[in-house]
Amino acid sequence: MKIVIPGGTGQVGGILRRALAAAGHEVVVLTRRPVRAGDVAWDGATLGPWAAVIEGSDVVINLAGRSVSCRYTRANLQEMMDSRVDSARVVGEAIAAAERPPRVWLQMSTATIYTHRFDAAHDEATGELGGAEPGVPDYWAFSVEIAKEWERAQEEAATPETRKVALRSAMVMSPDRGGVFDVLLRMARLGLGGPVAGGAQYVSWIHDRDFVRAVEFLVDRNDLSGPVNLAAPGPLPQREFMRALRAAWGVPVGLPATKWMAELGALALRTDTELLLKSRRVVPGRLREAGFEFAYEAWPAAADDLVRRVRGGRVAG
Ligand SMILES: NC(=O)c1ccc[n+]([C@@H]2O[C@H](COP(=O)([O-])OP(=O)(O)OC[C@H]3O[C@@H](n4cnc5c(N)ncnc54)[C@H](OP(=O)(O)O)[C@@H]3O)[C@@H](O)[C@H]2O)c1
Repeated sequence: MKIVIPGGTGQVGGILRRALAAAGHEVVVLTRRPVRAGDVAWDGATLGPWAAVIEGSDVVINLAGRSVSCRYTRANLQEMMDSRVDSARVVGEAIAAAERPPRVWLQMSTATIYTHRFDAAHDEATGELGGAEPGVPDYWAFSVEIAKEWERAQEEAATPETRKVALRSAMVMSPDRGGVFDVLLRMARLGLGGPVAGGAQYVSWIHDRDFVRAVEFLVDRNDLSGPVNLAAPGPLPQREFMRALRAAWGVPVGLPATKWMAELGALALRTDTELLLKSRRVVPGRLREAGFEFAYEAWPAAADDLVRRVRGGRVAG
């Protein structure tokens, strides 16, 4: 198949590029800074010559968007919003204009779209979309708004011959340098992998190989469209998540951090505490109903596998 991946130069793009190319597919990446063979230039916002790569393609997987690992200042939040909405809209315009459009468009979304919640897990049917929950910082509602607008840009695209799926993905755990697992493992190795602000907040995650398999499954299954949660069936409280990671690496201690320590740490890492403190309890309702089987359902086995691969030598992103 010819698979076009707008924004395919980041962590998730690296995982998909490697796996899909190894499976024999032709992969084309849309990027603002083309460097590799197979890269095509675009600006993520307006139609241009790049749209020719959509013509006759089989699958589009749009991953573009400003990184969420930053301080959530007003300017950064706006850039997070615009880069996602504009790129989804223009990908839709290119598909709508194609004479031979792709048969499926997978659009990245996020598990962050659901409410901050501890008591029950969100699936697609019964889950509650966030934005109005009490007792959380106002700007958390803005990240939910970004996710909603992101999905709306895909929904509103007039692409009658192209099936549309929104990937409500949890954090994708891979051994790649600079990825989220790498950052968490480094913290654990420094002895900082303890509970943050009590550690009761849930962490949703998906192992990289299951992420790739779920993408392939969604490409193949013509009966599935709309939002789909990409998260392992076993989300767990942050303190247990980090405990399993420490056990996988063999780190005896993990210092607990209070909310203000987390604030300082996030400031130093130029990231935001929402990523650590929001409870994301998300489960894969539709994937399971459709018969998808996870290779890694529970975090301890997934963490062991990722640690083994880190120790065995990593692959370049
Ligand atoms: N990583 C995860 O665990 C995870 C989980 C859930 C959802 N997501 C979402 O999935 C997508 C891919 O994740 P990732 O971790 O691979 O992200 P990433 O490493 O930040 O990569 C996203 C890509 O988007 C492009 N981009 C950045 N700013 C842009 C802009 N203003 N306009 C157009 N393109 C822009 C960049 O490509 P160029 O610089 O080459 O143009 C970048 O490589 C993101 O939207 C992310 O929010 C990720």
